[in-house]
Amino acid sequence: MLVPEMGTDSTAPLLYWLIRTTRPRTVLEVGMGYTTPFLAKALQDNVEAVEAERSLLGDPSAPEVQPLAYSGYYDEPYEPRLVCIDRMTDPTSSAPRVLDVLDELGLTKVCGVIEGDMQDCGAQVREQLGLIDFAWIDTWDTLAFLREYWQMVNPAGGVLAVHYLMTYPQGRAILAYINSLRAVEGGRLEITNLREPHRVAQNSTTLIRRIRDYVDPEDLRPNGTLNDPPGVLGAPTGELG
Ligand SMILES: C[S@@+](CC[C@H](N)C(=O)[O-])C[C@H]1O[C@@H](n2cnc3c(N)ncnc32)[C@H](O)[C@@H]1O
Repeated sequence: MLVPEMGTDSTAPLLYWLIRTTRPRTVLEVGMGYTTPFLAKALQDNVEAVEAERSLLGDPSAPEVQPLAYSGYYDEPYEPRLVCIDRMTDPTSSAPRVLDVLDELGLTKVCGVIEGDMQDCGAQVREQLGLIDFAWIDTWDTLAFLREYWQMVNPAGGVLAVHYLMTYPQGRAILAYINSLRAVEGGRLEITNLREPHRVAQNSTTLIRRIRDYVDPEDLRPNGTLNDPPGVLGAPTGELG
């Protein structure tokens, strides 16, 4: 499954943990292969984690969950969905073999595959996912992706992870374009480049988070909580509620 030239041996677990951490409901992958089972497994593990936490809410014998859990989070069902797109025509890619691996690992329940060019699949993706909470793009066509899908990335915290944009001129041009999107987003765009310094190629992942419409649930509680460090919100410890 791992094709070393694809350079995703450490990126795949990184994506796993990003999805475990941010718990997206809708995930899109363009460019299948080694990374695909990591994305699907993360969603499946999230489902199990949410169910376990929900069952502990309100249980006084589960103190490790009580002070940390924001109970409103569990009001909505968590039924995540992954859609993967690949042309399946690249002879160097492990994409065609992934379908069997997903099946063997029991991961097909959370995951749908579209065989085709991403530029022709926008309507299908919109129908299957609606807004995209997390997208992973591993092709040379990032600009085409942005043209077709940018408005589908959730403006309330949606994350776009793009493989290998640093260290070569075409990639840097795409990075400059992504930076220019800040103006369109009213300045509310977060961009982080993670460089793998030991690699000569396939050596970075860029994370872009759309926050134009993002409101953190904590910001709706102006007095903060007892978990906040003292003084951060101007209220002395002990008077928070
Ligand atoms: C770099 S490989 C993906 C590697 C994979 N993420 C991994 O970890 O092994 C790129 C894949 O993108 C697919 N691809 C490239 N351009 C595409 C496009 N415009 N639409 C759909 N698939 C595309 C290719 O078929 C190929 O399988």
